[in-house]
Amino acid sequence: MRFSLPLGVIIGAQVVTCVSAQAVLWGQCGGQGWTGPTTCSEGVCTVSNPYYSQCLPGTNTATSVPPPSSTTTSTAISTASTTSSASTAASSTSSSASPSGTVLNISPQWAAAYAKASPAVAKMSLQDKVNLATGVGWENGHCVGNTPAVSSIGFPGLCLEDSPVGVRDSDLVSVFPAAINVAATFNRTLMNQRGVAMGQEFKGKGVNVALGPMMNLMRASAAGRNWEGFGGDPYLSGEGAFETITGMQSSGVQATAKHYINNEQEHFRETSTSNVDDRTQHELYALPFLRSVQANVAAVMCSYNQINSSFACENNKMLTGVLKQEYGFQGYVMSDWWATHSTLGINAGLDMTMPGDISASSGTTYFGANLTSAVNAGSVTQARINDMATRILAAWYLLGQDSGYPAVNFDAWNNAAAFNQHINVQSTHGTLIRQIDAASTVLLKNTNGALPLKAPKTIAIVGNGAANSSRGANGYTDRGGDDGVLGLGWGSGTANFPYLISPLDAITSRAATDGTVVSSSTSDTDLTGAKTAATGKDVAFVFITADSGEGYITVEGNAGDRNSLSAWHSGDALVAAVAAANKNTVVVVNSVGPINMEAWVSNTNVTAIVSIGVPGQEAGHGLVDVLYGAYNPSGRLPYTIGKSINDYSAQVVFNQAGAITPIPYTEGLFIDYRHFDQAAITPRFEFGFGLSYTTFSYSGLTISGSTAGGTRQSGPGSSLDPWLHTPVVTVSFSIHNNGTVAGNEVPQLYLTFPASANFAPKNLKGFDSVFVGAGAQTTVTMQLSRFDFSTWNVVTQRWEVVTGTTTISIGASSRDIRLTGTIAN
Ligand SMILES: *[C@@H]1O[C@H](CO)[C@@H](O)[C@H](O)[C@H]1NC(C)=O
Ligand SMILES: *[C@@H]1O[C@H](CO)[C@@H](O)[C@H](O)[C@H]1NC(C)=O
Ligand SMILES: *[C@@H]1O[C@H](CO)[C@@H](O)[C@H](O)[C@H]1NC(C)=O
Ligand SMILES: *[C@@H]1O[C@H](CO)[C@@H](O)[C@H](O)[C@H]1NC(C)=O
Ligand SMILES: *[C@@H]1O[C@H](CO)[C@@H](O)[C@H](O)[C@H]1NC(C)=O
Ligand SMILES: *[C@@H]1O[C@H](CO)[C@@H](O)[C@H](O)[C@H]1NC(C)=O
Repeated sequence: MRFSLPLGVIIGAQVVTCVSAQAVLWGQCGGQGWTGPTTCSEGVCTVSNPYYSQCLPGTNTATSVPPPSSTTTSTAISTASTTSSASTAASSTSSSASPSGTVLNISPQWAAAYAKASPAVAKMSLQDKVNLATGVGWENGHCVGNTPAVSSIGFPGLCLEDSPVGVRDSDLVSVFPAAINVAATFNRTLMNQRGVAMGQEFKGKGVNVALGPMMNLMRASAAGRNWEGFGGDPYLSGEGAFETITGMQSSGVQATAKHYINNEQEHFRETSTSNVDDRTQHELYALPFLRSVQANVAAVMCSYNQINSSFACENNKMLTGVLKQEYGFQGYVMSDWWATHSTLGINAGLDMTMPGDISASSGTTYFGANLTSAVNAGSVTQARINDMATRILAAWYLLGQDSGYPAVNFDAWNNAAAFNQHINVQSTHGTLIRQIDAASTVLLKNTNGALPLKAPKTIAIVGNGAANSSRGANGYTDRGGDDGVLGLGWGSGTANFPYLISPLDAITSRAATDGTVVSSSTSDTDLTGAKTAATGKDVAFVFITADSGEGYITVEGNAGDRNSLSAWHSGDALVAAVAAANKNTVVVVNSVGPINMEAWVSNTNVTAIVSIGVPGQEAGHGLVDVLYGAYNPSGRLPYTIGKSINDYSAQVVFNQAGAITPIPYTEGLFIDYRHFDQAAITPRFEFGFGLSYTTFSYSGLTISGSTAGGTRQSGPGSSLDPWLHTPVVTVSFSIHNNGTVAGNEVPQLYLTFPASANFAPKNLKGFDSVFVGAGAQTTVTMQLSRFDFSTWNVVTQRWEVVTGTTTISIGASSRDIRLTGTIAN
C-alpha cells in the first residue's frame, strides 16, 4: 500500500519537485575523513559537526565547504538563544520550509490516525499545541513522564512510564524476562507474546506510553544496559524490537523505541560523542529503529549522548534526515529525561521534551513559553509546531486511546498514596514468563549426560545467586544490588517484583518429588562451607552472578558499566572450590551478559554449564524446567562469549577525555561475532550457540527466487520501499531430530557477501525456533528480501543490492554451519 499525505515535516519545497533526488539532497558533502564531493547538486552543504556536512534543503548557493574544525565544541543549536532568528544550521533548514511534503509507504494505520489528528490540530490554539509537546515537569504528575490535558479537543494528557520489562514504580505487576533473555529464545512468537502481555499490564495501569523496548546494541560487552537490549546482532535486535512493539501495541499501549541513538555505554552518557560512520549507522545501530518504524512504533526516544559532536536530541541528520525522511517515521520523538538541550532542537526533529523541565524540578523548560515565543518569533515555523502536534496526537489515535482507554490508577512516586487503586494486572503472565525463561536458558556444556537430572539421591546448591536476597526481592532501590538471584540488572529499566522465585526454592521443591536430599551453602565467600556442601553429593550446583545497570547507581564499584567480565564475588574461586570437591559440578551463570569462564570452563569436574541471563520473576522455575528436562533447552547466545575481554573489538571508554569524551566506533561493522570471525579469533562460545538434549541433522538445502527486476522508489520513506522488503528469495531445508527426545532447534541463516562489499564474514539474516519430535523430520522455509542482500551505499545514500555471488549458510550457530548454497545477484 502506498499513501501520500500532506505532512508538516520540515523539508524544502524543492524536495517535492525533485523527490527522486533524495539521495543527493540528504547526502554527505564534507567532514573529517570524507573524501567524496564537497558540493551539493541539491540543497546547501551545511556543517552539522566536525565529522559531517550534509546537503540540506535550501537554495543552492554554496560552492565550497569550510574545512572541518578539528576541535570539538558544543553545537551551535545548544548555545543559540531560543528566540534568535535563523542563525543555526537547524533553524536555517526550516526557515524556508514548506509545510507539506510527500512521504512514501505510510501504513494504513498511520494514514487513518493522521486523518483524525490533522482536523483536531486545526482546532487547537498555539498554547494547546505547545502543551501537547511539553512535559509537566519532574514528579508533577502520577507517572514518570506526563503531558497536560487539552480540553478543547477532549485530550486527557499522556502518562509515560518505564520500563522495558514491565510497569515500573507500581505494584501487582509482572516482571518479565529482560530483552537479552527473549533474544536468547530466537523465537518470534515468544517475543511477540511477551510484548502483548506487557502491553496489557501497561494499559491496565492506565499508561499511555510505555518506555520500551530498548534496542541499543551490545557493542561493548561490559556496557551497563546491555541486558535491556537484544544483544550483539542488529538483525536479531531488529526482530526483537519489531515483535515486541507489534505485541505491545496490539494491546493498545504506545511503544517507544529507544535510545536513539549510539548510547552504547553508561560512562559519560551525557558528555560523550559517539562518532559513527554512515554505513555502520545504517547497517547496525539504526536497523532496529527501522524495524520499529515498520512495526508502526508510536514514539522514539532520543538519547543522552552526542553523535559526531551534536546531541542526539538535536541531531538533524538522525532525527529528520534518517528517521523521519529516509524511514518515513510518522510518530513523535521524545527526549530521554533531561536530554533536551535547546528550544531550536525542535527544528532538528525533536517533538516532545521529557519530563519537561530543563533539569529536575527547575521550573524552567526549553519548550513551554520558550517554544511559544520561538513560534511567535518565527524561529520555529507554524508548519513545524503543527507537525509536532499532529505526530503526538496521531500516535494517540493510532492506538485507539481516544476511546475507552483506562485512566492512570497508580502513582509512580508513592504506591501508598490514596490515589492508587492497586489494580492487579498480572493475569496469567507468570506462565508465559516461566515459558520464556525455560526457552531462554542456554545450555553451554553438558558432558557425561550430566543433564537432565535423573532423580539424584543428593544435590548440593552453592552460591548466593541461588538464594533469596537478604533484603527481599525489591530491597535495593531500582534493583541496585547483587544479593541473591538476579532477576534483572539495575536502573530505570526495572520494575517491582510481585515475587521472585529463587533457584534454591524451586530446585528444593522439585527435588522433593524424587525424594532427593538437598544441602546448600548460600555464601559466595565461605569456600569451606561450599566444599562441605558439595562433597559426596550426586550433583553440585554452583551459582555465580555478574550484574550491571544504569550509571546513576554504582554497585560494588561498578558505575553502571561492568569493570570487567569476571564473575562477581570471586565466582571463579567458588566454582573451583565446588569442582575440587565434586566430579559432577554444574555451573549456573546468572548474568547480564558474557562473563569470562576460562578459569573453569574446561575443568572435567564441571560437567555442565547453564546460562540463565536475567530472567525476571520466574527465575528458579524456568531453570528447573530445563534441569529436569521438562523443557528441552533451545536457548542460543545472543552475543559471543570470548576467552578474554580483549578479544572483543570495542570496549567501554572509562577515561574522560575533555569536556566531551569521544567514543570512536572505529571498529565499524565489526562488533561481536562479526569481529571474531573477521579477525579469526576463536571465541569460547560463539554467537548463536546452545546445546539441546537431542541432536539434529540438516539436509536438502534449496534456494529459489531472485533479487532481479522490479521498480524501486526513491524519496522520503523509501527505506520502506516494498521493492526492498518484499520476500523474493526462498530458502528451504530439512531438520531431522535424530535423538530420543523432542525439542526445538534454532536454525540460523547467515549471508556471506562478495569480498568487495567489505562485510563481516557472516551476517545473520534469518532464524527460527522449530519444534521437531524425536525421530521426526520437518521442512523449514526462510524468506529473504532485497533488503537482506543490501548494503547502505554512502555515496548514493540508498540501499543497494550487493552484486556478485553471495553465500547462504544454514547453521546451528554462527560457527556450526551445516548447509551452504549460493545465489548470484
Ligand atoms: C558522523 O560522521 C561520519 C564520518 O564523517 C559520517 O559518515 C556520519 O554520517 C556522521 N553521522 C552523523 C549523524 O552526523
Ligand atoms: C527558556 O530557556 C532558557 C534556556 O535557553 C532558560 O534559561 C529559561 O528559563 C527558559 N524559560 C522558561 C520560561 O522556562
Ligand atoms: C524466599 O522468599 C520467599 C518469599 O518471601 C519465601 O516464601 C521462601 O521461603 C524464601 N526461601 C528461603 C529459602 O528462605
Ligand atoms: C575432581 O573432583 C575430585 C573429587 O570428586 C577431586 O579429587 C579432583 O581433584 C577434582 N578435579 C579437579 C580438576 O578439580
Ligand atoms: C545426528 O545428526 C548429527 C548431525 O548430523 C550427527 O552428528 C549425529 O551423529 C547423528 N546422530 C545419530 C544417532 O545418528
Ligand atoms: C516458540 O516457543 C514455543 C513455546 O516453547 C514453541 O511452542 C514454538 O515451537 C517456538 N517457535 C515458534 C516459531 O513459535
